[in-house]
Amino acid sequence: RIAGPCSIVIFGVTGDLSRKKLLPAIYDLANRGLLPPSFGLTGFARRDWSEDEFREFVKKNVQEHCRTHFSEDTWTQLAEGIRFVRGTFEDADAFERLSDTVAELDRDRGTRGNHAFYMSVPPRDFPLVAKQLSNCGLAKSDSDAWRRVIIEKPFGHDLESAKRLDTVISEVFDEDSVFRIDHYLGKETVQNLLALRFANTMYEPIWNANYVDHVQITMAEDIGVAGRAGYYDGIGAARDVIQNHLLQLMALTAMEEPLSFKACDLTAEKTKVLSAVKLPKDLGAHTARGQYAAGWQGSHEVVGYLEEQGIDPDSTTETYAAIRLDVDTRRWAGVPFYLRTGKRLGRRVTEIAVVFKRAPHLPFDSTATQELGKNALVIRVQPYEGITLRFGSKVPGGTSMEVRDVSMDFNYGSSFTESSPEAYERLILDVLLGDPPLFPTTREVDLSWKILDPIEEFWSTLGQPEPYRAGTWGPAQAAEMLARDGHRWRKP
Ligand code: BG6
Repeated sequence: RIAGPCSIVIFGVTGDLSRKKLLPAIYDLANRGLLPPSFGLTGFARRDWSEDEFREFVKKNVQEHCRTHFSEDTWTQLAEGIRFVRGTFEDADAFERLSDTVAELDRDRGTRGNHAFYMSVPPRDFPLVAKQLSNCGLAKSDSDAWRRVIIEKPFGHDLESAKRLDTVISEVFDEDSVFRIDHYLGKETVQNLLALRFANTMYEPIWNANYVDHVQITMAEDIGVAGRAGYYDGIGAARDVIQNHLLQLMALTAMEEPLSFKACDLTAEKTKVLSAVKLPKDLGAHTARGQYAAGWQGSHEVVGYLEEQGIDPDSTTETYAAIRLDVDTRRWAGVPFYLRTGKRLGRRVTEIAVVFKRAPHLPFDSTATQELGKNALVIRVQPYEGITLRFGSKVPGGTSMEVRDVSMDFNYGSSFTESSPEAYERLILDVLLGDPPLFPTTREVDLSWKILDPIEEFWSTLGQPEPYRAGTWGPAQAAEMLARDGHRWRKP
């Protein structure tokens, strides 16, 4: 699967995401031979840069963050197609210059009118950029050439604003040329969830309320908001990652088998799950929010959220969020799905833990199973990508039948020699190929806001989130929330 002749234009090219992920991903695609020789890359920004200065900027970031081995040959080939347009989003002339630049790429690089526009910009700028692209004639595909737009999350900050954005975007772009990015869907381990569930016989028979006790989906980060205060403050943990990454993981975990892995079949199943989500009646008892205070991250002393540069010292933004959701279907009746995420937690880990019910009868004396937990299948999304199965086993020796938890592990690193591409590589390539299964549809985005909006509304009445010390596993509220249901959070 190699992309055909095309180019990509990045708005917000000097931002964090572009420097650390997008530019390196494009380079890595080139280095793996997945981009055509007729490829162009245009940066659009307000910096007063010459084209050479922009090339230097790209090279520096690529060298710092690329995953493949840096090769001067690949770089030289890629650099020949790199262009820079200086301007602001308000400046119609700058978009005319952009239009001339891509026309020149068509002529000199042979990109044949196929152009993707990556909006790595805050949602408030999407409408203006879309309008400007439309005004300068860059937005519409025709039978010979495609135009696609890639939109970074967050797509709005609630259902209403997401719908407003949709209206503007749909006036300018055809729906099948809009690619909404949720980079978690580009992760190998997330795609492997589908292989695990639907390529094997073992799991599906027990993947339901008869056997599953509850599901815990965790996305923990050890980093703070470093450098992203402007984006994060006022948004918070739930809008930042539960609305998108964690609800997508939940939908993939809970959905029925799709007819195929085509976009329409996948979205049909994910949509059913998101539509069936039921919020707890008592949001106070079944949600938790926290804000990190100063503490230690390993051997580093770190400041609290309110002391971070650029954060409003009275900010009520949560850096930790946990919620319980139920999926009102026959398969999942009575099985709680617990979603949690936070910054400055014990360590970086994302996992989906499917926790099973206890055996209905244990023919051991009670002291023998004191240390036996519940069986669990843990999909380790990152790091140490793989799968762990936890179950009880007899402790060797001794005269009594003592049973204790043990683990069986599958690790990508030891089972495969192939390396996993970075999520953005996969997703950018899919856009260039026009392959939509890994991109959430507008319906999924809207349903996710519909789930989150009442929770956000409830939280907005609460004032300051509960502080938790950096480097710990979150606020006491979160532990209490699970204890109420007779459960405990896993310590990954
Ligand atoms: C982004 C969030 O979507 O995901 C960030 O905006 C978060 O706040 C990041 O740090 C985490 O991504 P990953 O791939 O490192 O888990």
